[in-house]
Amino acid sequence: MYPFTPGSYAPRNGWYVAAFTHEIGEALLSRWILNQPVVLYRKADGTAVAVEGRCPHRHYPLGESKRVGDAIQCGYHGITFDWQGKCTFIPSQPSIPGVYSIRTYPLVERGLWAWIWTGDADKCDEALIPTLDEIGYTVPGLIPAAFYTMQVKGRYQLLNDNLLDLSHLGYLHASSIGTPDDAATPEVRDLSERRLSSRRYMHDTPMPPIHEAATGYRGPVDRISGMDFFFPGFHAGIGETRLPRDHAEAGTVLRTSRVWHAVTPATKTSCTYFFAMSGESQDALDHAKISLEPVLAEDRFATEEIEKIITTLDEVPPELMLKSDTTAVQGRRILQAMMDREKAEASAAGERADAAVASKRSKTDEPV
Ligand code: FES
Ligand SMILES: [Fe+2]
Repeated sequence: MYPFTPGSYAPRNGWYVAAFTHEIGEALLSRWILNQPVVLYRKADGTAVAVEGRCPHRHYPLGESKRVGDAIQCGYHGITFDWQGKCTFIPSQPSIPGVYSIRTYPLVERGLWAWIWTGDADKCDEALIPTLDEIGYTVPGLIPAAFYTMQVKGRYQLLNDNLLDLSHLGYLHASSIGTPDDAATPEVRDLSERRLSSRRYMHDTPMPPIHEAATGYRGPVDRISGMDFFFPGFHAGIGETRLPRDHAEAGTVLRTSRVWHAVTPATKTSCTYFFAMSGESQDALDHAKISLEPVLAEDRFATEEIEKIITTLDEVPPELMLKSDTTAVQGRRILQAMMDREKAEASAAGERADAAVASKRSKTDEPV
């Protein structure tokens, strides 16, 4: 589906952010991830776990059910599953059929985030999660903080497109974090196996309005603005502002920050957007949290309005691409190649184990 080939909407074999770690607690947390209902919770020993959020009996949401110790008792007819997905109790019969189980997902807490793997078990590798060093989480003097989790009614790729093309900063965010130079300055790109980077180096450029307000400085500056896209759904941004070359204190850093955008497909046409950043002090973070809320609302507005247009049109005409779309197009191609590879591997391997289990379970009118 747009902007990918029909039937493709996001790679399956990749780590996505399921939640900020602080969101996972004793209570069951329901979240759709890659078109699957998932339940997240913390066991009594503090370990965060992720299990399938659909009861295999009659599809009741397990996230709306009850915790019994570290297990979940379905809120409909009381069938109970432990955190490893095993059915441990069926109120209406003493025997537990072998098909009664729910799926569990690898979940890794790293930094502010809990990362989930919903793809093929044999490809799951923790080394594929971006390291804290490579996303700028460990920069000395900067404090990381989780800001917002937003449910966005737009497909995940629309937000990836947004984050891969920061030329929108000077227009969609003209009153806050961008200036026309964000669009007019050419990008410097770099591609490696796990990420696509882009940087804009701006000299003697105006300061974006909210940075002026935060620093109290008026006048031209040198700025670096960039983003590292870690496939398939994590964007680590870098922002740095210095006094310009002809200033008496040239090179002095006025502000520096790292921002982190995690975009996780919820359904095929919606996503969960996690925004976090680091700042030089708690005061700076408090100020940023307030001033960035409307900025994120602008991105959400753009995404949801585009989603409305592309889902309502009978046919989506081809986009008229510009040079400034080069990074976004490259990002899309990488994701499409990941999805093509998954498709080829799946068809070579025949039906996956999930499909086999699903077909067994499909005989819903026969008691087991
Ligand atoms: S739907 Fe869960 S026990 Fe019946
Ligand atoms: Fe934006």
